[in-house]
Amino acid sequence: MRLRNLKNATEIMEASPYLIENPKDYLGKTETLFSKVQPLHIEIGMGKGDFIIEMALKHPEINYIGIEKFDKVVARALPKIPEGLENLKIYRYDAFDIASIFSHEVDKIYLNFSDPWPKKRQAKHRLTSPVFLEQYDLIFKDKQEIEMKTDNVSLFIYSLETLSQHGYTLSLISLDYTKDLNLDTAVSEYEKKFREKGIPICHVTAKK
Ligand SMILES: C[S@@+](CC[C@H](N)C(=O)[O-])C[C@H]1O[C@@H](n2cnc3c(N)ncnc32)[C@H](O)[C@@H]1O
Repeated sequence: MRLRNLKNATEIMEASPYLIENPKDYLGKTETLFSKVQPLHIEIGMGKGDFIIEMALKHPEINYIGIEKFDKVVARALPKIPEGLENLKIYRYDAFDIASIFSHEVDKIYLNFSDPWPKKRQAKHRLTSPVFLEQYDLIFKDKQEIEMKTDNVSLFIYSLETLSQHGYTLSLISLDYTKDLNLDTAVSEYEKKFREKGIPICHVTAKK
């Protein structure tokens, strides 16, 4: 994702009640960030936040955390969050060591249009690589659920393989989900662009 540097990113981040400065402080006690104890769903690589904000508005019965590694991207998401939204928090964090910020407390992970890292030597950076899937085992509460959308068929096929090799059962598999499936979902910035261009979007739900 290419974005011009936002000059006032630090100011925006410091002023936002939604940004949690030290996610590691909440390891194993993420629920204390929220007014209600209820299921926790996270999006890794939330980008500019459209998906996770829409989900939080649609589902007050679920707590959400959006995770994004770049300040300038987080700073674009934060001003979009409506005032008083109690079931959403944002972490500016690189998920490469996500098991340092959650411990057996996540119910569902969303991966929307994750960076494909197309070269073989870059595979470990993919959010569905075995390196990440091993860490996800440590952050899920009991049942595990990952819902993935992507326009990138190579990343999709790679992910179907890694997820099934890691013991997940796959369902709702589609190479063009907006035509094939009737899902209760939200639309991210990337998804909006692909839909406008008529580009098919792959979908899978993985559970174990
Ligand atoms: C292609 S964009 C998609 C953004 C958004 N999910 C959407 O669908 O519009 C991928 C985003 O994931 C973020 N990202 C990639 N790897 C990450 C990681 N290890 N931890 C946190 N964020 C990551 C990138 O910075 C980028 O904003």
